[in-house]
Amino acid sequence: MPPLKRLPIGEIHDQPWCPRVIRDAVTDFLQYAANHWGQYTPLLPTLCYFLQRVNAPRIVDLCSGGSGPWQRLYGTISRAFGDSFRIVLTDRYPNLAAFRLARDLSGGVLDFRDKPLDACAIPQELLGFRTLFGSFHHFDPAAARGVLQNAVDSGQGIGIFEMTERRALTMLAMLTAPIFVLLHAPKIRPFCWSRLFLTYLIPVVPLLVMVDGIASCLRSYTVEELAELTGSLTGAPYEWEIRKLASPSSPFPIIYAIGCPKAEGRG
Ligand SMILES: C[S@@+](CC[C@H](N)C(=O)[O-])C[C@H]1O[C@@H](n2cnc3c(N)ncnc32)[C@H](O)[C@@H]1O
Repeated sequence: MPPLKRLPIGEIHDQPWCPRVIRDAVTDFLQYAANHWGQYTPLLPTLCYFLQRVNAPRIVDLCSGGSGPWQRLYGTISRAFGDSFRIVLTDRYPNLAAFRLARDLSGGVLDFRDKPLDACAIPQELLGFRTLFGSFHHFDPAAARGVLQNAVDSGQGIGIFEMTERRALTMLAMLTAPIFVLLHAPKIRPFCWSRLFLTYLIPVVPLLVMVDGIASCLRSYTVEELAELTGSLTGAPYEWEIRKLASPSSPFPIIYAIGCPKAEGRG
């Protein structure tokens, strides 16, 4: 069945008026889910291959939310690229308590920017391989192309990784998200009473994870659309890998596009 039409609707946790305590509770749950179920772990060989191709000084993770899947991923990257290799978490609305915890648990391999960083306006001096987990769908096609074009213009590698799809089945599965929030909320760290309050007394977080999850599906890009976006970029030639990858720990495949400057002499 062909994917549904892409709908340019917003997500509530992404709105400037969304209270920080609610936004952070949502991104904390997304972090917990990604690490608990290890949904992005199958990507590690591909990510390491591209990192090694560009010899990047660090990873600059954009739209990091509550630190995303990095607690599950940083160990392999640290072993492959050395203890001094850093993964820098950034966000337009930095979830500082989550960033601090991620830094402490990783012994400093995960580091962060405490000032807001818009993925559409990355300072020239912030060099590194750019990653976006579960967030590329936040950008409309013009902005999404801008994010990719900026990586090419700066000569940096970039990888975008999504678990959502414009498919009825994926959206139906999102209807079950509140159950997982209700079951797992007390285990999410950093611990805070407000999250429990907003989960069990006023169930804003379970509802928001579901509603924003469905919105995420409706605005996700397909493999073909990602190929179209990367194909429209100008400047230095890039090598792209764009595909759908099954994840053994999740019913949802990962859709990703990862690219870096083409090495001299490679076709
Ligand atoms: C769905 S969350 C994903 C968080 C995390 N990467 C993960 O995998 O759990 C999307 C994040 O993107 C951030 N975001 C949205 N638009 C952004 C922008 N233009 N620049 C930087 N961050 C942005 C939001 O603040 C939010 O934290």
